[in-house]
Amino acid sequence: MEDRAITSTLSLSSQSALPEEDKSMLQILGGHSLSGEVSISGAKNSALVIMAGALLCSGDCRLRNVPSLIDVRRMGEILSALGVKLERQGNVLDINASQFEVTKAPYELVSQLRASFFIVGPMLARLGVARVPLPGGCAIGARPVDLHVRGLQAMGADVQIEHGTVHAHIKGGKKRLQGARIYLDCPSVGATETLMMAATLAEGETILENAAQEPEVTDLANFCRSMGANIQGAGTNTIVISGVPQLHSTDYPIIPDRIEAGTFLVAGAITRSEISLFPIVPDHLTAVVAKLKEIGVKVVLEAPDRMRVIPTQQHRATDIETMPFPGFPTDMQAQFMALLTLSDGNSIITETVFENRLRHVAELNRMGADIRVKGNIAIVRGVPLLSGAPVVATDLRASAALVLAGLAANGTTTIQGLHHLDRGYDNLEGKLKGLGAKLERIKGDSTEAIALLSPAPVG
Ligand code: EPZ
Repeated sequence: MEDRAITSTLSLSSQSALPEEDKSMLQILGGHSLSGEVSISGAKNSALVIMAGALLCSGDCRLRNVPSLIDVRRMGEILSALGVKLERQGNVLDINASQFEVTKAPYELVSQLRASFFIVGPMLARLGVARVPLPGGCAIGARPVDLHVRGLQAMGADVQIEHGTVHAHIKGGKKRLQGARIYLDCPSVGATETLMMAATLAEGETILENAAQEPEVTDLANFCRSMGANIQGAGTNTIVISGVPQLHSTDYPIIPDRIEAGTFLVAGAITRSEISLFPIVPDHLTAVVAKLKEIGVKVVLEAPDRMRVIPTQQHRATDIETMPFPGFPTDMQAQFMALLTLSDGNSIITETVFENRLRHVAELNRMGADIRVKGNIAIVRGVPLLSGAPVVATDLRASAALVLAGLAANGTTTIQGLHHLDRGYDNLEGKLKGLGAKLERIKGDSTEAIALLSPAPVG
């Protein structure tokens, strides 16, 4: 692709780049019901790893249904920095990694995107060497990569971490990684994906035991298989990959985002509104729908890929324990906590996946919720109503929880820290406004939007 491709990518990124210290706020006037249908974008946690997986391909990769997110833009910038050619037209992303360098991906980009670590496996498999700055931890936890590293070592890589950078190369002057039998201490999504990608071009067979079963892992496997990879068992806890010499071009549609869909199901429930979602994959939402039904919220399938939420006036308390798929997803924990603050009775929420993913509790309590935290357990006592307040988002899913609480709260909620939200949701506020929500993104402490959002004088 000619240079304009890169220019368009860079200009796109410069236009859509949000200043890191973005001072804008989301102002929400609560108490309005929603109606209509919302379109669900492509899955963030598929798009990011599949973009890295495109490094495995020596031809053109066309990805469809790619969401517009800061994290996707950043992954594009990292791949561009390696010399990969990218061109984005709407939600179609063309990637050509026929030529790319092993030069160290720029730290200032990698440090802002944990998912950048996904380039290690494909780079090692394609070039025999990889040099990537170690992604830091984040608000929700230390986010170690020891399982990724140990798996690559089992496949014949020498992996050293020096001065915050991962240096890896294939030992013994071999050109290809070697297949291996690898047991994962925990069903890590990222480690499963890194090792599956590395194994597609390895010599021989790789068996991943205690592998993650998330839909995004299966999506990545299907993407690799569409390029000619030989992968069996994705979606189960044992994945078998038989290495092939190279992978060919593909044109691949990314699955809908089950976490965005779950977030909108909760938006309908918490505002007592009937709304439809399309497209969705019902099997990706089994645990979320089951928990909504326990709370008293009905969800009906209007079509194989369309879901409608039908709330009731009274919501019951329930208990939630986050687990690897097919258990209840940790990425939906904060959103359900917002919903349960208004349920009748006490709910117990246990976060078992990440060590610091209850930071939204303090902000929900500022809105009148009654939640106490004991270690990784939150005890939520239902209250009759929440009241709008100024709050600060601490991480991606916490910001979604605060939006949901703001939609239901009495009065106006202002949310700061929107860069968290924009990392992982494709135009959330535009989609909510399309359903009738009263919210505006304002700069600083502008008074103009308050007028916009304030109820018109009666009479
Ligand atoms: C992926 O993160 C998702 N991110 C997360 O989504 C999601 O919450 C998580 O999987 C669990 O479903 C992307 O796909 C980009 P893990 P990942 O490896 O791969 C420990 C969101 O909100 N672990 O399954 O980092 C780890 O500390 C984000 O969209 C190790 O100990 O998750 C954690 O406690 C947040 N060593 C647990 O495993 C390792 O080498 C699960 O982590 C790797 C992980």
